[in-house]
Amino acid sequence: MNLWNEKRRIFITCARGTTGILAGEIQALRFPVLATLETSVETKGTLADTLRLNLSLRTAQRVLYLFDAFPAGQAQDLYRRLVTLPWEKVIAADGFLSVTSSVNTAAVNDTRFANVKTKDAIVDRIREKEGRRPDSGPGRQGVVVHLHWENDRCEVWLDTSGESLSRRGYRKIPLEAPMQETLAAAVILATGWDGKGPFVNPMCGSGTLAIEGALIALGRAPGILRQNFGFMHLLGFDAPAFEKQREELQKAARRKADGRIVATDIRPEAVEAARQNARTAGVEHLIEFAACDFRESAVPEGEGIVVLNPEYGERMGDAAKLGDVYKSIGDFFKSRCMGYRGYIFTGNLDLAKQVGLRTKRRIPFYNGPIECRLLEFELYRGSKKAK
Ligand SMILES: C[S@@+](CC[C@H](N)C(=O)[O-])C[C@H]1O[C@@H](n2cnc3c(N)ncnc32)[C@H](O)[C@@H]1O
Repeated sequence: MNLWNEKRRIFITCARGTTGILAGEIQALRFPVLATLETSVETKGTLADTLRLNLSLRTAQRVLYLFDAFPAGQAQDLYRRLVTLPWEKVIAADGFLSVTSSVNTAAVNDTRFANVKTKDAIVDRIREKEGRRPDSGPGRQGVVVHLHWENDRCEVWLDTSGESLSRRGYRKIPLEAPMQETLAAAVILATGWDGKGPFVNPMCGSGTLAIEGALIALGRAPGILRQNFGFMHLLGFDAPAFEKQREELQKAARRKADGRIVATDIRPEAVEAARQNARTAGVEHLIEFAACDFRESAVPEGEGIVVLNPEYGERMGDAAKLGDVYKSIGDFFKSRCMGYRGYIFTGNLDLAKQVGLRTKRRIPFYNGPIECRLLEFELYRGSKKAK
């Protein structure tokens, strides 16, 4: 069994509402899209292929490679089957293992039971074959095995990402209500911005949108900075080949962005955090930071995009007081951003109505459990002004 060369099903998970964008990314990397579900896209490839997918996909959260699938109608079916699988070929006896699961079956009523049985079967098998067993625990620093048990069918996956791919490794200073990196990337890809015109991000908070924008403008793979992926802990992992791949992706990225990127926030400490995060990401030089009210943001000449993620009363701020802010965003769009496409990412559609401009598109997203929209406004110049 050499999984590194064996094509199998690969499941790639993402935030709800972003599967279309993820599917586009997968196809752009020349992998097939076999199925699209609510929070995942299925493709096919070898275990070696998961390196590229993990390094390059901007909107993926986890890349799962199929290890085994089998019918399991009762609790004991799980252990009985798993203990027969050649785990010693993929997990080192002195390694570290954690098990995650999504379980929806009448066979067990406690997910923890399924996790413990999975872990027991794996370590028992390795102990029997190798004379010792890997350590295990909740941390995702080593091998991560994911159990998906739906009705009477079990699938066991190698989670080649380990930690969620949202953790790019650059956001050292998170502030309140930050957007997940993968969601920020999905928002920018949904605008269709190609890195050429200006990108203005007032209310930047910890800078996630601006930093993801800079990475997109450079064509830089988002996973390059990460030090740890689940696949690194699987037996047979070829570290020099991985380093080579990472260097090639680094070299393929552009050094400079064509369009100007502006990121501002009214709180100087947010701007400082955003600047430091951008420095960690290696894109500080591409972003023009300023501490100011959103209405004072620089809006460079040209046909660019302006993206705001204002508070929407779910986690910060107070919805009642925010109405005026949304109205002012509409005024800012009309008076300062002509020729741009304007975007507001919000979880509060009532507040969005206060903007007072006609929306061209309302793209559905989820920020965790919160249903959100990315609202697009076409900000025509001249006679079509503020139509
Ligand atoms: C929901 S947070 C943005 C989070 C950001 N997308 C991130 O990933 O960190 C909203 C931000 O708007 C800023 N803000 C609130 N009122 C503002 C104003 N009048 N002008 C500029 N920024 C403002 C807040 O300081 C806060 O950082």
